[in-house]
Amino acid sequence: MFEHLKEKPADKIIALGQAFREDPRETKIDLGVGVYKNPEGVTPVMRAVKAAEKRLWEEETTKSYTALAGDPAFTGAMADLVLGDAVPRENVATLATPGGTGAVRQAFDLVRMANPGARVFVSDPTWPNHLSILAYLGVEVVNYRYFDSATCAVDFDGMMADLEGVRAGDVVLLHGCCHNPTGANLTMPEWRAVVERLNAAGALPMIDIAYQGFGDGLEADAAAVRYVAANCPEVLIAASCSKNFGIYRERTGILMAVMQEAGLRTLTQANLAYLNRQTYSFPPDHGARLVSMVLTDDTLRADWQAELEDVRQGMLKLREQLAAELQRLSGSDRFGFIAQHRGMFSRLGATPEQVERLRADHGIYMIGDSRINIAGLNDKTVPILAKALIDAGV
Ligand code: LMR
Repeated sequence: MFEHLKEKPADKIIALGQAFREDPRETKIDLGVGVYKNPEGVTPVMRAVKAAEKRLWEEETTKSYTALAGDPAFTGAMADLVLGDAVPRENVATLATPGGTGAVRQAFDLVRMANPGARVFVSDPTWPNHLSILAYLGVEVVNYRYFDSATCAVDFDGMMADLEGVRAGDVVLLHGCCHNPTGANLTMPEWRAVVERLNAAGALPMIDIAYQGFGDGLEADAAAVRYVAANCPEVLIAASCSKNFGIYRERTGILMAVMQEAGLRTLTQANLAYLNRQTYSFPPDHGARLVSMVLTDDTLRADWQAELEDVRQGMLKLREQLAAELQRLSGSDRFGFIAQHRGMFSRLGATPEQVERLRADHGIYMIGDSRINIAGLNDKTVPILAKALIDAGV
């Protein structure tokens, strides 16, 4: 049977990580996969998470199953973190999932069950795994313009022109903050215009928010998702705890379905639980439990927020350093966008050939579309990257 299997294309982000590990050069720099690293190159376990783990080890009395849709303490705390008081909880169905990717996958599956003909509009570019999952599920994808490669900012006119093609029942995938891979984000007035357009067309916004707290702060990063949730008839939200809690391998995420018509909640909630049961039955609980402990304990929460804020400020500082160094070396402002972008990523606008040369000549690893992970840098490597970019003619 297995001989009938077909080759699968490698995920370019994962493949780059493998290539980096195999590179023997000591001077190599990893700006690939979206994992936070401190200036020493370490992805630490956050203090509050470590403290919660210790407490959990002492207090946990059973590892019996939770609920199919996850522990309500987790889903409730996460709904509060993401949605604030934007919508009453009786208008929200929630599902604990293995990571943000699990939430994305279950959301697309829910869309397919509810409306098999739905098309999903995605930003060009988007996280490659969005496209891969949609292709795997056989869902029709339509691109909308998003990034202006000349200015490295959002091409909002192009985006709105392409969203003119949205029909009733379509889904439009948006990044809640910290757009992956570009780092370029919509302003609040732009979000309002998008909402107006989608509501006029009868389309459903789906928001992937994987980096809350990495852009302008925990609350500011949730402003767009809260606005959309409060102003659209139905919204799907996939949120990840991988990055802002630093619990990547624990696979902790949540899918939320928000609806103005609270009468649809029971039906939607049952469908979400059904999806979990068909896919892996109960969702993982360890990471989810740590998250709910951190979010509901004042001391742990304050410490988590303080550490997350340090992480965010550190990345902002690196952005400013890199932009300033590039300005110094190039004598121009053309890299100023790096300081304007938010989150872990910036798309630099280098060609695939230049990206390849940076890897071959300098051991600098970035995604082929020239996305860099800002957190892969430190004080010492910022000038090295800046010089290499200028030398490569970027
Ligand atoms: C990324 O974009 O690098 C992260 O979201 C990690 C991943 O799974 O691709």
